[in-house]
Amino acid sequence: MNLFLLGLPGAGKGTQAARIAETYGIPHISTGDMFRAAMKNGTPLGKEAKSYMDAGNLVPDEVTNGIVKERLAEPDAQNGFLLDGYPRTLNQANALKEALSSSGRSLDAVLYIKVNKDILMERLTGRFICATCGATYHKLFNPPKVEGTCDVCGGHDFYQREDDKPETVEKRIDVNEAQTEELAAYYEETGIVKEINGEQDPDSVFEDIRNILK
Ligand code: AP5
Ligand code: MG
Repeated sequence: MNLFLLGLPGAGKGTQAARIAETYGIPHISTGDMFRAAMKNGTPLGKEAKSYMDAGNLVPDEVTNGIVKERLAEPDAQNGFLLDGYPRTLNQANALKEALSSSGRSLDAVLYIKVNKDILMERLTGRFICATCGATYHKLFNPPKVEGTCDVCGGHDFYQREDDKPETVEKRIDVNEAQTEELAAYYEETGIVKEINGEQDPDSVFEDIRNILK
């Protein structure tokens, strides 16, 4: 299955992606995670991405298209993949189409997680992440079962993302709103968009996704 998760910042893409990737055995390809890993390792890509990400802007298409094309050519992505946060512009959507069709592939479904933008700020400013395994939590909506201990790996170190400060969150939502609509319309024409109500609890959202993918 070749899947793309579309949704505004904080819609729950990463939360659902972890479940989908595990359940269906396909790699989770998140451009945001790839940029953050590059930043952590201090690579040239990370240094370039940092200035855009810290300001809540998009990294230039030519940079992003290049890293995704390489990632999709890796062996583990040949039998299905889950894209999270890419494509984000029409230029990226066209680059993706080209990269996939050159290897005889195409997207099977676009899972569009819809959430009213009013609740995104609270979701993102309350998010925290396990420093050991990357599992995502929320202080009110999705806390670990045992306070201070990661459900997935048992780790005790957590951090907040640099771009989850209220002023940057606002910018990210603004930057992404029009593009997300545009992308939804673009894929709507191909008939592969499945809308999902992202305002339910995470388990119910996943249940809906499973029903769609059946
Ligand atoms: P990226 O990392 O992709 O961030 P984003 O799109 O802003 O989305 P988030 O990761 O913030 O939200 P999410 O939808 O994954 O939500 P989550 O599951 O964590 O991109 C970051 C930056 O990288 C961009 O700003 C840009 O600079 C750059 N970039 C990335 N891709 C790019 C591209 N293609 N082109 C150019 N630049 C690019 O959930 C959020 C919170 O809500 C969590 O606390 C979670 O526990 C909670 N939550 C989740 N689901 C629910 C639920 N159902 N109910 C209640 N709470 C929930
Ligand atoms: Mg995410």
